[in-house]
Amino acid sequence: MTLIDDIHRLKKQKKAIILAHNYQRAEVQDIADYVGDSIQLSKRATEEKDAEIIVFSAVDFMAESAAILNPEKKVLLPSVGARCPMAQMLPVEEVRLWKRRYPKTPVVLYVNTLAEAKAEADVCCTSANAVKVVGALDAETVLFGPDHNLAWHVQQKTGKRIVPIPRKGFCPTHVLFLMEDIQLLKEEYPDALVAVHPECTPEVQSIADFVGSTSQICRYVKETSGKKFIIGTEIGIIHRLKKENPEKEFIPAYEGAVCPNMKLNTLERIYASLKEETHQIRVPNQVAKKARKSLEKMLAI
Ligand code: 13P
Ligand code: SF4
Repeated sequence: MTLIDDIHRLKKQKKAIILAHNYQRAEVQDIADYVGDSIQLSKRATEEKDAEIIVFSAVDFMAESAAILNPEKKVLLPSVGARCPMAQMLPVEEVRLWKRRYPKTPVVLYVNTLAEAKAEADVCCTSANAVKVVGALDAETVLFGPDHNLAWHVQQKTGKRIVPIPRKGFCPTHVLFLMEDIQLLKEEYPDALVAVHPECTPEVQSIADFVGSTSQICRYVKETSGKKFIIGTEIGIIHRLKKENPEKEFIPAYEGAVCPNMKLNTLERIYASLKEETHQIRVPNQVAKKARKSLEKMLAI
């Protein structure tokens, strides 16, 4: 019996499913029941009516969102250390401080925040729907956090005044992409299209042919007739892109763009998590109730 067989056996025995983010290790994506972006995974968790356990192979805030939206299910994060540093950049106290400074301004928080912060938001958003969510608000000024690059993207697309909270929240992996590197790659591959995530810097976004969430990048690649793509997001997505588009070529905009937190979920840890039912994500009821409202408001938009 291999480790993969053991995982499948335990999954069946415990009525569990494995959901994996687009940045997970190749072998983890290959054993998952579903691979997707941050919000697709949470939605998928709600659709899996028969599942009693959800192994959420991603980072803390994503598993937390799934637990908030599926209070009756046991949500497990295989590696307790898989924590998104961007989510740590906006503690709840800071959200409250900005709310005191701008008492009449709506607060839109990226799902890359911890549950306590989400509980203070008017509505959540993901990189896939941030423009739509902010556009739908009846307000010309919006407090938006924690990613100030995504805030810039939203400002460009909606024309609204976006106040980033904190001033400079960022993803340590996506700021590694440099405009100069992409320009050099464009010279080397003149017929390649450039697709990047909105967590990249404004200069990188400005020279891209497409800016979107991880799943939007997957859809863009599939639906455009281009054959070569320079990809400006975490390297793990290249596995899915190659698998779904074997006839196309993918050039990482920077090979060192690895999210070390995402990579903590290994097959061994997934097996241990299923076997021992660790590490269960628990969100206190009061916090979950308020955070659920912000997430559900987003889903309704
Ligand atoms: P997506 O919602 O696009 O999957 O992105 C989540 C994330 O953490 C990007 O770094
Ligand atoms: Fe967080 Fe960046 Fe990793 Fe996404 S890639 S989980 S934003 S650190």
